[in-house]
Amino acid sequence: MNDFEAEVIRNEQIIKDFFIIEFSLSKPIEAFEPGQFVMIKIPDQRVFLRRPFSIYDLHGDSLSILYKIKGEGTRLLSKAWKGVKTQILGPLGRGFNINIPDTCKPVVIAGGIGIAGVSLLIKKLKNIPDIFYGCTEEMELRLIDHIKSKPVFFATMDGSYGFKGDVITLFERHFQGYNSPIYVFACGPLAMYKSLKEKIPESIHCEVLLEERMACGLGLCFGCVKKTIDEKEPYKRVCKEGPVFDLWQILL
Ligand SMILES: Cc1cc2nc3c(=O)[nH]c(=O)nc-3n(C[C@H](O)[C@H](O)[C@H](O)COP(=O)(O)OP(=O)(O)OC[C@H]3O[C@@H](n4cnc5c(N)ncnc54)[C@H](O)[C@@H]3O)c2cc1C
Ligand code: FES
Repeated sequence: MNDFEAEVIRNEQIIKDFFIIEFSLSKPIEAFEPGQFVMIKIPDQRVFLRRPFSIYDLHGDSLSILYKIKGEGTRLLSKAWKGVKTQILGPLGRGFNINIPDTCKPVVIAGGIGIAGVSLLIKKLKNIPDIFYGCTEEMELRLIDHIKSKPVFFATMDGSYGFKGDVITLFERHFQGYNSPIYVFACGPLAMYKSLKEKIPESIHCEVLLEERMACGLGLCFGCVKKTIDEKEPYKRVCKEGPVFDLWQILL
């Protein structure tokens, strides 16, 4: 982990509130895991705390983030022009386990901006995964243009493309059809994880990426804890022990 000086190379609106920002870092990042994140200093005095974002893509000193405008920090980030300088801390946290048994079919489930947290994973998995992607409307499918060559099952809430409804209901419909073991990776809102927990048996390996508000991102402030089933130490820091957790360990 390092605190890098970073310069904005591009900051492009993909659709509506969704942007991709690419930074040139002062040094290359050699080792990182899909699912790890960085803390970005918003290049504006009005926002003090850094904001966490998943590593969307990374090649040497070129780091990309896919983000959605949520509040003040991301709104100001979307205004950062080419050449703006800032600081980026990372890579942080524990990522996805990509070394799953060859006998398991990987399944990746993403909801909306959750695709940002699993895009690298999709690239790095040895076996081609089945991808289930859910969003509100057809326009958001632009966010997965780069992975359309892989098998993708789509769900839109308004029914404008693919299955009409939520992505977990779509996954549930396919779930019974798997006749060999699967290994599930997911990134999306908590409601998606709750639904997943209800719909698949505990025998299925399932890793999920949790998003909590963060202050330090380094495990120091305990501002990001999540309760788990661990009786000795139930509270885990999302920034340190996560952000990737075993679905069956966390209390939702
Ligand atoms: C490990 C990790 C990885 C992330 N990766 C990405 C990513 O790749 N792309 C992306 O767009 N976003 C990602 N996020 C979420 C992102 O950090 C927040 O959207 C961002 O910090 C919001 O900052 P803001 O100043 O715009 O909004 P704020 O003004 O801080 O908040 C606006 C609203 O969003 C809510 N909010 C803020 N942060 C979070 C959060 N972490 N979880 C749930 N609700 C929140 C607030 O409660 C408030 O209602 C990630 C978060 C974590 C913890
Ligand atoms: S954000 Fe400070 S401990 Fe996680």
